[in-house]
Amino acid sequence: MKKQRIGVIFGGRSVEHQVSITSARSIVEAMDKAKYLVVPLGINRKGEWLSERKSWHLLSQGESPLIATPPRTLPPWTVLRKLDVAFPVLHGTYGEDGTVQGLLELAGIPYVGSGVLASAIGMDKAMMKAVFRHHGLPVPDFQVMMRAQWESQREQALTQLESQFSYPCFVKPANSGSSIGISKAHSRFELAQALDEAARLDRKIVVEEAIDGREIECSILGNNEPVASVLGEIISAREFYDYEAKYHDNNTQLFIPAQLSSELTAEIQCLAVKAFLAIDGAGMGRVDFLVDKKSQRIHLSEINTIPGFTPISMYPKLWEASGISYSQLIDRLIKLAMGRHKEKPCASVSPNY
Ligand SMILES: Nc1ncnc2c1ncn2[C@@H]1O[C@H](COP(=O)(O)OP(=O)(O)O)[C@@H](O)[C@H]1O
Ligand SMILES: [Mg+2]
Repeated sequence: MKKQRIGVIFGGRSVEHQVSITSARSIVEAMDKAKYLVVPLGINRKGEWLSERKSWHLLSQGESPLIATPPRTLPPWTVLRKLDVAFPVLHGTYGEDGTVQGLLELAGIPYVGSGVLASAIGMDKAMMKAVFRHHGLPVPDFQVMMRAQWESQREQALTQLESQFSYPCFVKPANSGSSIGISKAHSRFELAQALDEAARLDRKIVVEEAIDGREIECSILGNNEPVASVLGEIISAREFYDYEAKYHDNNTQLFIPAQLSSELTAEIQCLAVKAFLAIDGAGMGRVDFLVDKKSQRIHLSEINTIPGFTPISMYPKLWEASGISYSQLIDRLIKLAMGRHKEKPCASVSPNY
């Protein structure tokens, strides 16, 4: 049987460049080489697409190579068009947000994961929450503040936010990931600092009530009939699950399966599927929750359309615990990508139409 050419797209311009390389490396390692021919498509921090040789280097070394020849700004159409399936393993902006998905749509190649719209909604925390709320899903109380408003009317903005939220509250750049730019504010002074920090990274800021909750995650797999994995719990040794806790702190613990009652587990799995369908997700997604420690109330925190795939990442681990190995997971995702592609309206519609 002819091997399928799978283009693994990784690196990228976002702050999660390094995480993406680690994710891509473990995906490539887990791929069944008897079935697939891996075509690495590395993107450096400047957003330049690397040649195949330099992409292998980036993947194995984990850092951007010194570039002797001018890199390409976009992959040549011929490289893209030869792929059977593309697997974007880009976290954050310029990859998880619909931009690369748009390029792949134009090139007409099947790709793993959500389409343009779901990727864009999942990336923008303000839009994501609005969509969830519209679908009656339980999101923590939130408010959107534009950078322009914050910068022009600081005192008024603080007073307005204080009338809606008590301390502590969370402040986030709308388009963030890996907790970068996210702060927990305990006072008016810290709220102002947190808004400044978020405004440095994004023109749109989300402020939300803090939930004193257990952090529970659920993996989703599928297109039109998505299924939920067993649940996992993260216990961070830090005040919240910030960048340090995610990638550097050895005291962060993952518990799989999460110790929750069967009723609560089923309810969270059901909400995870609903959240995935609400944004019209495809292929994969990881849905994160905060379960109030006292009241056990479930709050839907966010969905990630390209979850981490590093060896310690929750997404593949939850599937492993649910009976799907890492390489079976990749097989399923590639099949789902092709299935989704077939559902698309044919590009060459009848001239009589
Ligand atoms: N409303 C909230 N209440 C309590 N903790 C929160 C809240 N929002 C965020 N956090 C903490 O911050 C972390 C990162 O926030 P999240 O919205 O998931 O952003 P990211 O997309 O960067 O992962 C969460 O894992 C959690 O520890
Ligand atoms: Mg998160």
